[in-house]
Amino acid sequence: TLIPVILAGGKGERFWPLSRRHRPKQFLCLDGTGDSLLQSTANRLLPLAQKWENLWVITAAPIADGVREQLPQLPETNLLVEPQGKDTAPAVAWATLEIAKHYGKDAVIGFFPADHWIGDNDAFQQTLKAASEVALTENAIVTLGIKPAYPSTGYGYIEQGKHYGEFNNLLVYSVSRFTEKPNRETAELFIETGKFSWNSGMFIFRAGVVLEELKKYAPQMVQLLQDKGQEAYENLEKKSIDYVLMEKTQLAYVLPANFGWDDLGDWNSLERLIESKGQNVELANHVGLDTQGAIIYASNDDEVIVTIGLENVVIVRDQNVTLVVNKERTQDIKKVLQLLSKNS
Ligand code: GDD
Ligand code: MG
Repeated sequence: TLIPVILAGGKGERFWPLSRRHRPKQFLCLDGTGDSLLQSTANRLLPLAQKWENLWVITAAPIADGVREQLPQLPETNLLVEPQGKDTAPAVAWATLEIAKHYGKDAVIGFFPADHWIGDNDAFQQTLKAASEVALTENAIVTLGIKPAYPSTGYGYIEQGKHYGEFNNLLVYSVSRFTEKPNRETAELFIETGKFSWNSGMFIFRAGVVLEELKKYAPQMVQLLQDKGQEAYENLEKKSIDYVLMEKTQLAYVLPANFGWDDLGDWNSLERLIESKGQNVELANHVGLDTQGAIIYASNDDEVIVTIGLENVVIVRDQNVTLVVNKERTQDIKKVLQLLSKNS
């Protein structure tokens, strides 16, 4: 079996004002299933874990109660609470140490972000089974590669190396290079070669393999976590696993994934999800006259949002906040949050 760990400690700031300190993006229902992103992720992983006792979640202290509320079946022992978010490198290292204590160093672990949309669940399950098999039999850190759709600067890029083998009818390749969030020019060059895929952000490996690699590339972090557990956090640097491990390791493999994937990173991603093709995305009681390409969201159905003669805007109503932003500028919501926190 695979021991899935959900990475659920991010803030998802670009979904403000819907995402707030105690209600980050992963708690929101964005995919129309009625479940939150976190709940959908757990539902998708349960068949692989086989039971709740094998599913783990690592999150940050301010939102731990929210996770308990959203996943009432999750055993308390399987909820790892970080005193503060230090990005994914400490999260992966600490969770792997804890899981190795429970299941041993040969346990196959998979890390899964809580902010993904997956189109074809059957294909997802098949891909994960193949990935687990590779991880079980090889000293491998298995990544899932997504066919890149455009030169995004928000993803990691995986360069496919030699053909390595076939598992569960799926091809596996070694990774010749991993580059986290390149600039635009580099991303364009990567895509032109046809050899790169996007990193899906999911990683599958045996606990012992990654602990040995982390000892090589981040010895202090591992030592601190081993000695002090949660109490190590105040002394840890904020870094993601992509920089700390994936750009450095020689043990990375990639399995091309064909299950339909999206990272629900900001408001614009709703448009891809709903495949609106120029229509308005209306998650609100909206009355629009000559309004095109708008994304409109209201938490309260009783409120009517009326627009006239608008194009390419995002309008969000939630509690005491109204956000109106040009669709091209949704990445800048993070900047506004900094301004707001200075003023309050
Ligand atoms: N426990 C914990 N603690 N989880 C965290 C923390 C933390 O400090 N920081 C982030 N996470 C969680 C987020 O909630 C999310 O589910 C996941 O880890 C990934 O973090 P993101 O912040 O969303 O990363 P990203 O999207 O910028 O980049 C990663 O994912 C891309 C694909 O979506 C990288 O792995 C990229 O290479 C990859 O392409
Ligand atoms: Mg993400």
